[in-house]
Amino acid sequence: MADLFSSYTLKDVTLRNRIAVPPMCQYMAEDGLANDWHRAHYATLARGGSGLVIVEATGVAPEGRITPGCLGLWNDTQAEKLREIAAAIKATGAVPGIQIAHAGRKASANKPWEGDDHLPENDPRAWQPIAPSAIAFGGDLPRVPKEMSIADIQRVKNDFVAAAKRALAAGFEWLEIHFAHGYLGQSFTSAHSNQRTDQYGGSVENRSRFTLETLEAIREVWPEHLPLTARFGVIEYDGNDEATLSESIELVKAWRARGLDMLSVSVGFTIPETNIPWGPAFLAPIAQRVRLEADIPVSSAWGFGAPTLADNAIRQAKLDLAMIGRAHLENPHWPYFAAKALHQENPAWVLPAPYAHWLARYRSPTEA
Ligand SMILES: Cc1cc2nc3c(=O)[nH]c(=O)nc-3n(C[C@H](O)[C@H](O)[C@H](O)COP(=O)(O)O)c2cc1C
Repeated sequence: MADLFSSYTLKDVTLRNRIAVPPMCQYMAEDGLANDWHRAHYATLARGGSGLVIVEATGVAPEGRITPGCLGLWNDTQAEKLREIAAAIKATGAVPGIQIAHAGRKASANKPWEGDDHLPENDPRAWQPIAPSAIAFGGDLPRVPKEMSIADIQRVKNDFVAAAKRALAAGFEWLEIHFAHGYLGQSFTSAHSNQRTDQYGGSVENRSRFTLETLEAIREVWPEHLPLTARFGVIEYDGNDEATLSESIELVKAWRARGLDMLSVSVGFTIPETNIPWGPAFLAPIAQRVRLEADIPVSSAWGFGAPTLADNAIRQAKLDLAMIGRAHLENPHWPYFAAKALHQENPAWVLPAPYAHWLARYRSPTEA
């Protein structure tokens, strides 16, 4: 039986354990460029011992960033900076992954600690968001996006493909497409945000077209031997959950048929008025259902930071990989902490040798 510390192989990539750092925006870039902050941050997280570190949502186009502080991958200078990050992650023994993203109607926002709302339209840092339909998200994100033309759709698909190529050239070995959280991909699939009357809106088939075509085009340039994953909100908690979940599972099957290797199961966040049952590991049963019904490996986040919860989710085959987000911000050596809590043999050796040797050999340095 697999547990949290079993290795995991997907395509030709083997992770040293089932722990992954999910993408977490840092909002610290300028012009989409990674800098010293990102180098230090990602190297620190990777040293903690997880099998996979996925670099934060990285905009495939300038207007696809959530905030002016988000990373980008629409030019080669950005790719050069990200190459250093991929190398720093790899140097620790973790696999470097990246999430490529387009924020759609949620773009042009403030950093979370500066309001987490849309930048005022007259702010010099603001820009015009684009989306399937001219419908605002609402709440703190009231700006009405411009409805995308067919040419816009084609251009953004091309941007995703170009970003995937750059990610590969920069040394990333695991690619996640961000189709979740009410951003562009998610908002094409949901009738809440997509009220188009052309071939990209209306029926489920039409609402699925943007993500299917984008995924298919990315798979053509992302090598077959490397994992291609997507993050997607399979459920909204808007009262229509069974229907959304069944539609989502059908869509995941269609993605799988076009080359998707794993789904990172998440929540849609397409509308502000929802009733999400927040709680430890609350998505575990949903992830398991997707895993079984869509017959695809899954990962998930949201509240797996207690080591027994993450370990049980793997042991009970609810997840193939456990995404540990905020717990890594609290303790970048979370895998070592989890190995101790779960009574692994030689827990210190989850960390790299220059740390593990000293921690394994003597009394704990923090013991009284
Ligand atoms: C600071 C921060 C930034 C985040 N940025 C992203 C992101 O770039 N892409 C994404 O898909 N999710 C993002 N998320 C969501 C996390 O990937 C994760 O799902 C969430 O933190 C819940 O998992 P946890 O309970 O282990 O923290 C972010 C979360 C945090 C806390």
